Amino acid sequence: MTTTPATPHSARDRVEGPLRVGVIGLGMGSVHVEAFSRVPGVEVVALAGKEVERRTQLGEQWGIPHLLDEWADLVALPDVDIVSIAAPNSLHHPITMAALAAGKHVFCEKPLALDTPQAREMVEAAIAHDRVLEVAFNHRRRADVQYAKRYLDEVGIGRIYHSRASWKRRAGIPGLHSWFTSKRMSGGGALIDLGPHVLDSLLFLLGERRVVAVSAVAHGELGRAGYGAMDRREQMAGDSGAFEVEDLASALFRFDDGSSAAFEITWASHAVDDEDISIELLGVDGGVRLFVPRYASDDTLRFYRDVAGRPVEIAPDVHVPGGEHPIVIAEFIEHVRSGEWEHHRGEFALHRTEVLDACYRSAAEGREIRLETA
Ligand SMILES: NC(=O)c1ccc[n+]([C@@H]2O[C@H](COP(=O)([O-])OP(=O)(O)OC[C@H]3O[C@@H](n4cnc5c(N)ncnc54)[C@H](O)[C@@H]3O)[C@@H](O)[C@H]2O)c1
Repeated sequence: MTTTPATPHSARDRVEGPLRVGVIGLGMGSVHVEAFSRVPGVEVVALAGKEVERRTQLGEQWGIPHLLDEWADLVALPDVDIVSIAAPNSLHHPITMAALAAGKHVFCEKPLALDTPQAREMVEAAIAHDRVLEVAFNHRRRADVQYAKRYLDEVGIGRIYHSRASWKRRAGIPGLHSWFTSKRMSGGGALIDLGPHVLDSLLFLLGERRVVAVSAVAHGELGRAGYGAMDRREQMAGDSGAFEVEDLASALFRFDDGSSAAFEITWASHAVDDEDISIELLGVDGGVRLFVPRYASDDTLRFYRDVAGRPVEIAPDVHVPGGEHPIVIAEFIEHVRSGEWEHHRGEFALHRTEVLDACYRSAAEGREIRLETA
């Protein structure tokens, strides 16, 4: 890399030359390894994770020279320019802080952090160390979400006064009794796991209006009773082991422009919902509905409006090819290369963490929470 820390923004050139990446985590991390490896001029030089066989196999497959057990050893490598984090949520903050302090750029899986104080520290560190910090919001890169945004920008549906957004699963608790269901390691359940994607797509479609207040509830009944594992083989009869998080969260958001949104996330529920993502935008002159059952890639969008006095439904022909991580990672690399880092310090992710954190506080305290930044 050719940049030095704390170069004034206006004076910084494009970052040319090879960029060397270290990836932490071997689950979603394997997607990062492949996506970074396919970007021209980018090389994955280090990989960290605990599962030795998997680490060796990925190392051989992608020709990665440094294979490590602990993230701290990867962050300490001088020949790493970028640290890519796909480790349990509780490690996002310590890894990011260490990587930024060591002068690395950071690409981090959602959620940015466990809570608002951690997220603020991370954004402040990215600014102080003059490095890029970006979060993997891959769902907004779906072709249907992007097309809906184009429709809103080019055609519009009038003032959007209310929205409904949800991700609902019938039986989709990931890693029952793993780090996913430990409050200390995950920060929460369905809401912090699936919520960032739905919230990010919603705020993107709404043009980044700010949430100023939330009123939320959270329940963990099914997981505690041993129901709802994503992989039913994980589920033991009568099992009610360590399940410390919510499997359902429901919230009402108030935005800075007086509009509102109903938001619901479930990992598990005895209901018709299977693996359904839904975003409905209600505007004065029309509506938009994104409905993605079981990660469908076609027929997921509807636009509604009145034409010549009659209600009309428009079904745009949009195919979602899938594989959005490579798009997000290629964009992240372009942001690093551009030298224009000032809008890439994790600010978008920070607001998403503030909203989800406020939901947890609202649910715990049984009252509406106004966001501090509001
Ligand atoms: N953007 C998305 O669509 C998406 C999808 C799935 C997961 N994720 C996120 O990715 C992250 C990882 O989730 P996952 O499903 O891959 O989990 P996982 O349990 O499959 O993988 C976690 C990895 O972290 C490694 N790890 C744990 N402690 C470590 C340490 N001290 N040093 C080095 N490595 C360590 C583990 O060995 C493992 O390889 C989570 O934050 C999750 O929210 C995002």
